[in-house]
Amino acid sequence: MVPVRLRGPRLAIREYHHTEGDVDALHTLFGDPQVTRYLPFGPCDRETCADQIGLYLEEAMAEERDTYRLAVTRLADAEDPQDATPIAHASLTLGGFRSAHLGYVLVREVWGRGYAGEIVGLLCDFAFRTLDLHRLAARVDVDNAASVRVLTRLGFRLEGRVRHDRFEAGAWSDSYRYSLLADEWPGAVAGGGEGG
Ligand SMILES: CC(C)(COP(=O)(O)OP(=O)(O)OC[C@H]1O[C@@H](n2cnc3c(N)ncnc32)[C@H](O)[C@@H]1OP(=O)(O)O)[C@@H](O)C(=O)NCCC(=O)NCCS
Repeated sequence: MVPVRLRGPRLAIREYHHTEGDVDALHTLFGDPQVTRYLPFGPCDRETCADQIGLYLEEAMAEERDTYRLAVTRLADAEDPQDATPIAHASLTLGGFRSAHLGYVLVREVWGRGYAGEIVGLLCDFAFRTLDLHRLAARVDVDNAASVRVLTRLGFRLEGRVRHDRFEAGAWSDSYRYSLLADEWPGAVAGGGEGG
């Protein structure tokens, strides 16, 4: 496996480590009901988060890797991004015909600083340049206005609305589908990157 290491102006994206620090960070993220409000799963306990990191590392070791679930850190938090505590989670799930779904989830205390835009920019660069993908897709709850803004700002286009896409807390919710094609990505956002 070639570990993914991406770097933007303020953030770095790396593989998870099976350490107390990374498990705590993932639990801070996925244990917060406000963070998971629009996600397809509810808040998770710490044990589930520890199991998830084990799964992410197994996925990373696959001979033909098709799932990238990665930790996002801030460059300002440590000299080496490998040592910094994750403040967000980023994912790419590959499908057929050189396509992938992307995902991004940030701890609440860092919302509103433009980090999500930087994360999606780095994922786009990695997907289109390093992995040579042709299409990226994202699913967004129709009430998740901040996430819609993140995607549209980067050029993602609306493909449609899926009705009753999720059932949570006794209610159905609809979601939007967005996509970006390789030739629509100017690649101007991110810094360098390596891995694959
Ligand atoms: C949605 C989320 C990723 C946004 O992250 P963020 O780092 O705060 O996003 P950014 O700062 O890059 O950009 C947010 C944009 O949405 C706008 N915004 C924020 N809240 C908004 C709201 N309630 N209505 C409309 N726009 C809103 C901001 O003004 C900003 O727009 P701008 O770029 O024009 O200034 C973050 O809140 C999060 O992790 N939420 C929980 C998990 C989640 O929903 N993930 C996405 C699943 S699709």
